[in-house]
Amino acid sequence: MQNLAWILSLVLMAAIAAVFLWVVAGASRPGGDAGTIARSAFQWRDRLFWVVISAGVIVSFGTLWEWPIAGHATAAPKADVVIRATAHQWRWEIDRDTVQPGQLVEFELTSRDVNHGFAIYKDKHHMVAQAQAMPGYVNKLQVRFTEPGEYEVLCLEYCGLAHHAMRTVIKVHAGAR
Ligand code: CUA
Repeated sequence: MQNLAWILSLVLMAAIAAVFLWVVAGASRPGGDAGTIARSAFQWRDRLFWVVISAGVIVSFGTLWEWPIAGHATAAPKADVVIRATAHQWRWEIDRDTVQPGQLVEFELTSRDVNHGFAIYKDKHHMVAQAQAMPGYVNKLQVRFTEPGEYEVLCLEYCGLAHHAMRTVIKVHAGAR
């Protein structure tokens, strides 16, 4: 590894020295005046401009077909289970807390007071999904829990003194009704 680094350094230093010598030699030649060098640089700049523009157009067309947000144009699939979750300062009221693995679960989120965040976590606070629970709105969040286990729900929007205490649990296990 050390030898490789040495060889690489020497090769790179030689390359830089060669470029340096080439520039010095070019500048001292009669044809290597500043005007020629500038024209050549402008040509390269023009080419680079079109390369960047073309790449931008190609990448945009290749990736933005579903612009602005993928899936928004199509209707959401029908869920297997609907869970209504209502936020209060400072607790979650959910009408069901067990589901089976693989079921498509739709959370219908709303709030009785202020904005809250409904964030579902697996294991060591690895977030699975989240959406806002807002007064006057029902926000739908679809989640498919593939792995059995306990998923912690925490509030993700600061909502007052006991924000940190807003937690509940969704249990995913094969026997769930
Ligand atoms: Cu509810 Cu933070």
